[in-house]
Amino acid sequence: MNIDGKHYRTIWLKDDGSTVEIIDQTKLPFAFETVSLRTLEDAARAIQSMQVRGAPLIGATAAYGVALALRHDASDEGLDRACTTLAATRPTAINLRWALDEMRKAIRNQPRDKRVAAAYARAAAICDEDVETNRRIGEHGLGLIRAHADKKGGARVNILTHCNAGWLATVDWGTALAPIYRAHDEGIAVHVWVDETRPRNQGASLTAFELGAHGVPYTLIADNAGGHLMQKKLVDLCIVGTDRTTATGDVANKIGTYLKALAARDNDIPFLVALPYSTIDWSLTDGSLIPIEERDAAEVTRMTGRLDDGTIATVLIAPEGSRAANYGFDVTPARLVTGFITERGVTPATRDGLTTLYPEHRKGQAA
Ligand code: MRU
Repeated sequence: MNIDGKHYRTIWLKDDGSTVEIIDQTKLPFAFETVSLRTLEDAARAIQSMQVRGAPLIGATAAYGVALALRHDASDEGLDRACTTLAATRPTAINLRWALDEMRKAIRNQPRDKRVAAAYARAAAICDEDVETNRRIGEHGLGLIRAHADKKGGARVNILTHCNAGWLATVDWGTALAPIYRAHDEGIAVHVWVDETRPRNQGASLTAFELGAHGVPYTLIADNAGGHLMQKKLVDLCIVGTDRTTATGDVANKIGTYLKALAARDNDIPFLVALPYSTIDWSLTDGSLIPIEERDAAEVTRMTGRLDDGTIATVLIAPEGSRAANYGFDVTPARLVTGFITERGVTPATRDGLTTLYPEHRKGQAA
């Protein structure tokens, strides 16, 4: 995607061939800054502090984190230590575990002196695969948006999204936003209702930023506004991303997603989830078993923003000493999901739907 006419991915290798560069998402939308990752600890901190976030980007960063770690210790113990450290950074997005498994597969049989090169090569390939996967998600989702536009005689299609599942959450393109970018680029009139997504405000700070940079019309709304807009027939479809989807189609995504799915069902509005293969947890058949991240209560009791004089400030918005709970994700049961948009096509949110697209995961076949 382009920022001020320059193409960026969210993560890339610098010219020295070893340093990894990321966009510091904690600074957006007020400053566009990049940060260098040189060690395993840098990569783990970037994931934990949400300088990078979004399931596919967390996986890509973890992959490079392994490469950075092996530069200092390419032994089996070094590889184990790197994977253990990175796996502990955030619990919900399965892409993290997927990427670490991929790295282990690519490295474990290599002689020690070839491990660093093998790790960088696999991490780069994971990034390239993510871009191509998301481009395809965009193509498959485009058909759905075009069908809505045709049904409306070319009037603009209003899409509600939650959190940030755009290019900032992946290496490029995004998942939920990929079809929206494709539709916009094809000349289909689209408009996005952007949930602010408390407490970290990924919608307000990231989705609004990237849609604006691409020229896609959007309106920022308070998280509680979606149901009202749906009742007023101002939403044609909802598209969200996911951090982990079970083999039976239950969807973990940013807290508040479930409430949007309930409102969509009550108003007969399609509720679509865009996801790459690396977000499916084939080992789980029950969404209630997905680990839900609980974060610092301060994210709920405080908000960060820019003051009129340009300084960035974090302010308390609750009584001093308030207790607060901060659940990062919720699970939307498959029955509330109209369909999945994947790199292999669009499919019902059921085990059958998923295994039709991914027959290699049919029961009885090797995963
Ligand atoms: O806590 P975050 O910002 O990492 O949560 C991100 C989301 O919930 C996204 O919707 C999800 O990762 C899908 S990203 C393509």
